[in-house]
Amino acid sequence: MSRIPEETIHAIREQTDIVQIISQYLQLRKSGQNYFASCPFHDDKTPSFSVSEKKQIYHCFSCGRGGNVFSFLQEIDGLTFVEAVGKTAEMADIKVDQAVFDQARQSRPKADSTHAKLLSVYEKAEHFYHHILMNTQAGEEAYQYLIDRGMSKESIETFKIGFSPPQRQALKLYLDNEDLNDSAVLKKSGLFSDRDDDTFVDRFSNRILFPIKDKRGQTVAFSGRAFLETENSHRTAKYMNSPETELFNKRRILFNYDKARPAIRREGEVVLFEGFMDVISAWEAGVKNGIATMGTSLTEEQVRVLDKATDHIVLAYDGDSAGMEATKRAADFVSKETHFSIEVASFPENLDPDDFIQTRGQEAFKEFLSHGRDTLVSFLMKYHRRDVNLKNESERLKYIEVVLKELARVTSAVERELYLNQLKDEFDLSLDALKEQLQMFVVEQQNARRKEKRQDKQNQQQEAEPTVVFHHNKPAVTSLIRAEKALLHRLFTQDEVWSVLSASEKDLIFSEQDHQLLYLIYDEYYHSREERSLQDFLDYLPDEKLKSKASEIAWISMSDDIAPGEIEDYLNVICDRQPLENQLKQKQMELKDAQRSGDKSRQQSLSIEIINLIKKMKSK
Ligand code: CTP
Ligand code: MN
Repeated sequence: MSRIPEETIHAIREQTDIVQIISQYLQLRKSGQNYFASCPFHDDKTPSFSVSEKKQIYHCFSCGRGGNVFSFLQEIDGLTFVEAVGKTAEMADIKVDQAVFDQARQSRPKADSTHAKLLSVYEKAEHFYHHILMNTQAGEEAYQYLIDRGMSKESIETFKIGFSPPQRQALKLYLDNEDLNDSAVLKKSGLFSDRDDDTFVDRFSNRILFPIKDKRGQTVAFSGRAFLETENSHRTAKYMNSPETELFNKRRILFNYDKARPAIRREGEVVLFEGFMDVISAWEAGVKNGIATMGTSLTEEQVRVLDKATDHIVLAYDGDSAGMEATKRAADFVSKETHFSIEVASFPENLDPDDFIQTRGQEAFKEFLSHGRDTLVSFLMKYHRRDVNLKNESERLKYIEVVLKELARVTSAVERELYLNQLKDEFDLSLDALKEQLQMFVVEQQNARRKEKRQDKQNQQQEAEPTVVFHHNKPAVTSLIRAEKALLHRLFTQDEVWSVLSASEKDLIFSEQDHQLLYLIYDEYYHSREERSLQDFLDYLPDEKLKSKASEIAWISMSDDIAPGEIEDYLNVICDRQPLENQLKQKQMELKDAQRSGDKSRQQSLSIEIINLIKKMKSK
């Protein structure tokens, strides 16, 4: 347990609103009393994640995760409890005594895992490279290169850009000095060239290094840019990335996502660039919601990350033809399965966003980015008419057809109308003919989608497990389970229940192991505190699974007052069912034995007994 004083935690909890905190990560929509979103903790197609303002808890109906504001931050940002409390205070603008947190943090045993060691290695390496760039003669040329490109000292510091010196042993010496000398970890870090012998030479030597950070802002990789004109510079790649490690997965990482997230939420949109330099220049110009992939196409994992923050993407790729192709690919990919709306900023004259800023200035850039965007359709029209000779009749017809096919995917009637009219005017066609053709494509696409869905369903059915008759581990919610949950709910929220329970003669045994555990832990909690609350109990629980279970139980809606005899009713249900439950367990064990020994007739008679027991339990 942490050493942050109870009063501090209590005060922070009192002053925060879980809805306000969670909405900085997810797009919450209010429906009735609660708020809903797609669950950030699993691949969720429907909004099954809900937040209760009244109870100050969240719960996912699909994956079952739940808890309070602290457990949310712990889970989503991978924080410890102490860190989550600190972050809550920060996000809710609550003044706290920082020393209290620092102390509590230090009392945490230093993690010893490879994972933690890798993180420290990267942290130190970042510091080392940044120092070389900023303060040494070895870094001067690289520093000057960045300044000449228009980068400010402030950005170099914000992004902790560094330089790897030509002395390829320097990094190893520095890490040795910092007591980071576990060779297995250093090998795994990918910071050194792969060699058979045990020499550690810096992989990135002579490159400008951009730290790549995960969503928590921890450095997990570098991307190194070559910048010196040398004889064989035509043979070295412009950028070189860290190899994939335990920390770094290219498909998942988005450059600058850690810093951009608040702005993405604030602006309601994310700007996707192709290169790091674009992101940084845009940042300097005041566009703080920019991110980039690692020089690869957008992946499903990355789209899923973005999905948690926004539903609008602005594609701001390079203005050359490769950039246009990449835009088309990204747009197709994003619009296929998701609900994102897309706009495109196509930079003129083959410029990339960074070039645009350097040649035309920050104000012109901001103006272009906000008012010079194309809708997705008008981008696609531009895209398809490249290399088309519209004077040639057959090419012209083909172009119209392609555009109509794209239009068939647009759901807004107004938007369709707009572009149909454009086509009509440009090619002097009748609106009716265009509409008729469009309708054909709509039907065609619907059929294709239906067929795809049918295929999916068939595949799913083939994969589904055969149902097992005696699979009694997951019963439909029986009256027993309902009673157990209701009793625990009352216990967690109303103090007087404990006295009713203590007065009862009956031995309380729950049918679900988690319920039993919650009950035992609550007992312990009850006797260790003068003041109790559900929120406080959630923090008291030792693990995420139990927190989820407890918040699921707290989520149940019940009347505020306990009805006369209500608690006794629950006790009756729970205790009466006990003998049947026990019998069933006994028979199931016997059945397993019989199966193991291959006793067919015994298996059969046991099966019948089990069916009867289940029937009996259901009728209760
Ligand atoms: N990239 C890469 N390897 C290369 C070239 C590019 O991994 N050999 C990736 C980098 O992530 C880079 C992105 O692709 O940021 C875009 O490439 P490019 O537009 O060529 O780079 P810029 O960011 O424009 O860099 P610069 O302006 O310094 O040329
Ligand atoms: Mn560039």
